[in-house]
Amino acid sequence: MIIDPASRQHALDLINFIDASPSPWQAVESMSEHLLGNGFELLSESDQWKLEPGHRYFTVRGGSSLIAFVQGQDTTKNRGLRIVGAHTDSPGLRLKPKAAFNSDSMIRIGVEVYGSPILATFTDRDLSLAGRVNIRSVTGFDTKLLKIESPLLRLPNLAIHMNREVNEKGLKLNRQIELPLILGATEEHDANTYFLSLIANHLNIEPKEIITFDLNVYDTQKGILWGANEEYVANSQLDNLASCHAALNALVACENPDSTCLCAFFDHEEVGSDSALGANGSFLTDIIQRIGISNKLDEQSRLCSLSRSFFISADMAHAYNPNFPSAYEPCHHALINNGPVIKTNVNQRYSTSSDTAAHFIQLCEISDVPFQQYAHRSDLGCGSTIGPIIAARLGVPSVDVGSAMWAMHSLRESAGVLDHSFMIKVMKTHFTQ
Ligand code: CO
Repeated sequence: MIIDPASRQHALDLINFIDASPSPWQAVESMSEHLLGNGFELLSESDQWKLEPGHRYFTVRGGSSLIAFVQGQDTTKNRGLRIVGAHTDSPGLRLKPKAAFNSDSMIRIGVEVYGSPILATFTDRDLSLAGRVNIRSVTGFDTKLLKIESPLLRLPNLAIHMNREVNEKGLKLNRQIELPLILGATEEHDANTYFLSLIANHLNIEPKEIITFDLNVYDTQKGILWGANEEYVANSQLDNLASCHAALNALVACENPDSTCLCAFFDHEEVGSDSALGANGSFLTDIIQRIGISNKLDEQSRLCSLSRSFFISADMAHAYNPNFPSAYEPCHHALINNGPVIKTNVNQRYSTSSDTAAHFIQLCEISDVPFQQYAHRSDLGCGSTIGPIIAARLGVPSVDVGSAMWAMHSLRESAGVLDHSFMIKVMKTHFTQ
């Protein structure tokens, strides 16, 4: 397989983006920096908005969800919006509020499971912490992002001599007892004091200034290209930062589009999307309403505009794994580097319908990009994503698509170098149609 230099470069950009974004808060910061560097203006939800045709804007809610848009030349009801949605969060381990505790001369860190990670993949990895810390200020509190670069934490496996059936029965971890991470050995009596001073040191502040934090456990190993022709990319959080990165790339390339083009990146997808900043919250509907108000659309025109809109829900898809052929539906094997995967589920776990799939297939054809169609085995529970939620809230035609990947929700996932470029290309076409 030949990998062209442009696709390779997109994949390397993706690796850099993920490595700089070990939590949803850093992902939003990375995206914000990229948008500011490409002529997008940051709007606050607490200000009045005055939008100009052709101009570029973005806004952030809760520090971990972001909506960016390029105003179309046509701001009337005639064309509707071109929307892409993806999620900023990935399943994993998050620290409890008073995380540190003493145990046999060691300090351990209590964690809660966020979403549905493959827990066994967290064992024996060089783990560390990333997220945000709220610290006291004269006016109340400020939020600082924290990323500890060095491997700080570990979840050691149990030796096979004490777990003789691990290869037959798999590694099972009790979430309360067997997941706390080892931070270090210390004589310190109060583990939390020790832990807070460690965070404070990294932020150059005093421990007493820390009020609260949101901290994610991440893998310090950087992303790589692998395979005989380096046709695969491996990293954590490919689900779903790869889709965020593809959508962001396509939006930034959008110059004076006819329709208003919008990307919505939501936190909390992995835990059901029910929050003020999740896909089932008001964020996207509020922003679309404000775009309408700012463009002086009356209610009737706003609804006409919505009915002419199209939504692509982008989330990663399950690639066929040749070692587990029985896990897959016949005739629906999604292959890595064979193009975007259109996901269908008649029970509406995916928002795709035959007509929205047809529209997406035509976008692929215009883009000269191959496509694939995926259905889950009927006797296995199918995952879901933000597609059906947004489709229900907005009432717009919607399709669920994604790049094929192996090991979804592992701490080390793999996807295809070519697929990332294909996805960027078809999203660019979506924004210009
Ligand atoms: Co996902």
